[in-house]
Amino acid sequence: MELYASDTKVHDEARQGEAFESNGPTKHFDKFFYIESYGCAMNFADSEVVASILENNGYGSTRDAEKADLILVNTCSVREKAEQTVRKRLTEFKKLKHANPGLLVGILGCMAERLKSQLLEEEKLVDIVVGPDAYRSLPDLIHEAGTGQKAVNVILSRDETYGDIAPVRLDSNGISSFVSIMRGCNNMCSFCVVPFTRGRERSRDAFSIIAECRDLFEKGYKEITLLGQNVDSYYWNNPETNVSVTFAALLESVAQIHPSLRVRFSTSHPKDITDEVLFTIAKYPNICKYVHLPVQSGSTRMLQLMNRTYTREWYLAKVARIREVIPECSISSDIIAGFCTETDKDHMDTISIMKESNYDYSYMYFYSERPGTLAAKRYEDDIPEELKKKRLQEIVDVQWVLSNESNKRDVGKTFEVLIEGNSKKSENEWMGRNSQNKVIVFPKENTNLKKGDYVMVLVSDYTKGTLLGKACI
Ligand code: SAM
Ligand code: SF4
Ligand code: F3S
Repeated sequence: MELYASDTKVHDEARQGEAFESNGPTKHFDKFFYIESYGCAMNFADSEVVASILENNGYGSTRDAEKADLILVNTCSVREKAEQTVRKRLTEFKKLKHANPGLLVGILGCMAERLKSQLLEEEKLVDIVVGPDAYRSLPDLIHEAGTGQKAVNVILSRDETYGDIAPVRLDSNGISSFVSIMRGCNNMCSFCVVPFTRGRERSRDAFSIIAECRDLFEKGYKEITLLGQNVDSYYWNNPETNVSVTFAALLESVAQIHPSLRVRFSTSHPKDITDEVLFTIAKYPNICKYVHLPVQSGSTRMLQLMNRTYTREWYLAKVARIREVIPECSISSDIIAGFCTETDKDHMDTISIMKESNYDYSYMYFYSERPGTLAAKRYEDDIPEELKKKRLQEIVDVQWVLSNESNKRDVGKTFEVLIEGNSKKSENEWMGRNSQNKVIVFPKENTNLKKGDYVMVLVSDYTKGTLLGKACI
């Protein structure tokens, strides 16, 4: 599978779900679960918490849905298409019950939270419904469903962080891993369903985060991505000492675990990323020089309707500040085309902010109205789908040019690359990433390099989305 810790493509819910297998020590299990995950990195990290809870309750993981006693789908609600994909999968899984009548199918994550018992009671697609804050109750719910009872828990919590649960790494490359540092979101961007599906923001105990990162490093991992919907608002108060830990302090502590442990983070809300965070990134060579800074729109009027709490000018000043403090930093963005009332002028403002920000990469979507959100309540979803798609294509085309130019600028430069494995195309090539999160492919050339090594690579060429080079040995 393609999900690496540094792969911010996890924002794209359209990625196919993946079945996983634990890479931990071999244990004997009588029952097996199969899990498929959709949506953002937080969902993938949550599936590893779920795997841990299930392993402790006698379930081993399998990659084969047909051999499973329990099928779980960890779902996303961020856009309508994400939900459609899941419904299709659930319908397919339901059919497996003909061959295996004891099979239980459960829905986890954001769609479970949004639709509550609907998929169990009305649509009869699943046996178990569990929201993102209720995974500890899974063993009880499995038992209830097994005895024919309704098994639903979608209670959101103000303090659940699963901080004490050691995730079981699923289908890991053994090099990169996600570590959740907070849950929920307090921002209420008007288009976004996440605050409703994930609840209030809460930060995880800093000691448990550092312990998890240290443990990963000791197990051979070389790259950690600290995860949260808005990592810059991480704030944990030690109840024993009353000392508070900010995101900058946490980032520094993780970076200090070892100079050969790379640290990444996602996602930053432009309003919250502080100079302190930028100086910390600049100070530590092992904190990757890459910031994902979603703009959503280049029009101040749209940004106000979206409740993003910054203006176009404010955002551009933040980009300028990042480039000033960390000159070698790459910047990526999320962009929504066709939000309510968007005019051609608003759209052109988005195109121009992309160019002015000079994004290395963007994740681009057209607006999908989500029931219950502020936008769904307040504004009409009035941009015809055809126009949304046309604008999205224009945005994609602009980003293609920007990414291409960004890659072109890298030709002739030498980067430190962390080797993640073989390239997709050939066993004779390594694939890795530089600090800026760009994928670099280079020939193995009979060297003694291995997965997890750092190597300097001179970039000589590029294709769409990939730099090509040669190891400097
Ligand atoms: N917390 C992150 C932030 O503030 O940027 C991102 C969270 S969201 C899961 C990922 C991206 O999905 C958003 O940045 C936005 O571009 C997009 N998104 C969210 N709701 C959407 C909607 N209703 N329609 C289209 N795209 C949406
Ligand atoms: Fe959604 Fe906004 Fe929160 Fe991101 S910051 S998760 S876009 S509400
Ligand atoms: Fe989707 Fe929930 Fe993440 S809605 S993007 S899985 S927080």
